[in-house]
Amino acid sequence: MNWRPQSFEDFIGQSHVTKHLAAEVSASKARDRPVGNCLFYGEPGLGKTQVCEVLAHERGVNLIKLMGTTTTLQSLTSLFVEGRLGNDELPLTGWQRVGNKWSKVPGQKTAPAIILIDEADALPRPLWEVLYYAFEPADKRGRIIKLKYQGQMHDIWVPPVTFVVATNYAGDLPPAIQSRCPITKQFQPYNTDELCQMISQYAQSQGLRLTDEALVMLASRACGIPRTAKQFVDHTCLKAVDGQVTELAAKQTFDLLGIDHEGLDTACRAYLKALHDQGGKASEKTLGVCIGEDPKTIRNVIEPRLIRKGFVTIGAGGRLLTATGRQHITQTDENVVSRLM
Ligand SMILES: Nc1ncnc2c1ncn2[C@@H]1O[C@H](COP(=O)(O)OP(=O)(O)O)[C@@H](O)[C@H]1O
Ligand SMILES: [Mg+2]
Repeated sequence: MNWRPQSFEDFIGQSHVTKHLAAEVSASKARDRPVGNCLFYGEPGLGKTQVCEVLAHERGVNLIKLMGTTTTLQSLTSLFVEGRLGNDELPLTGWQRVGNKWSKVPGQKTAPAIILIDEADALPRPLWEVLYYAFEPADKRGRIIKLKYQGQMHDIWVPPVTFVVATNYAGDLPPAIQSRCPITKQFQPYNTDELCQMISQYAQSQGLRLTDEALVMLASRACGIPRTAKQFVDHTCLKAVDGQVTELAAKQTFDLLGIDHEGLDTACRAYLKALHDQGGKASEKTLGVCIGEDPKTIRNVIEPRLIRKGFVTIGAGGRLLTATGRQHITQTDENVVSRLM
């Protein structure tokens, strides 16, 4: 079974997020109102979706997941007009659909759903325009949005739900949406202790035993990202003996994956090498062309890791390689990359 936190208490790290959300959940339960809209942003793999699942669980409501990449006007219409998402009924505890209207189930507490818009930067602008009104602060009565449905504009009543918008970079979202999310949280990379706690529980759930040395090696090479740390654990199966992962097995796994002692993969090293070959200074565009990665991956995944390690800085003239970045790439270039070829 995949180990995943179910409560704010189980959730390791990001206490600035979970403490605030726990207080919001208590207040919203006491007032029988939805939690305010949330905006979660930060590098991929830091637990934004995971926190949202915990939030829904703690509030005792259903989580409806929309992906920015696949949501269409038709799916929004179907969600709000017909109360359906794909083949599923919109699962709103405490609300029932009567004819073409929603009404409260008499005698039941309102338990509004949470609608997560994941990878929100990919949601097309015209859909945000539909959603602006739905994002207005909700009271017990919900909000009205204007939607074109079967060729005509309709006033559609949206039940009092909480919207959670998750994205890697908040600046990609329309300002009108940002300002309608009173609970805005930036997710931070985790420290090695937090990652150690997380992956020892995860490894156990996978039937793997990590020695202390292997645990620290896996956690410290994950660049502060839980998803990366969990993937490392999954890969150690390749070298584990009878479910036991030693430091040697972890090291052999990293060699197989092409991950160096700083936790940098081939894409990060290709970026450093390209910057080095350009004389230590290059534009984002030039680097993208040199290493063949798309600008979003460079901005959201590669650069944050290299900047945190102090290998790269961003200046007026573009990206700059620091002295430690130069030292790292010239050493690993010879020692690691050539060995991996
Ligand atoms: N604090 C945490 N404790 C335990 N597991 C976590 C934590 N944060 C993230 N994870 C795990 O890491 C993976 C990536 O998390 P996810 O929520 O999908 O990240 P994001 O949405 O920010 O890209 C998931 O498997 C998730 O369960
Ligand atoms: Mg996510």
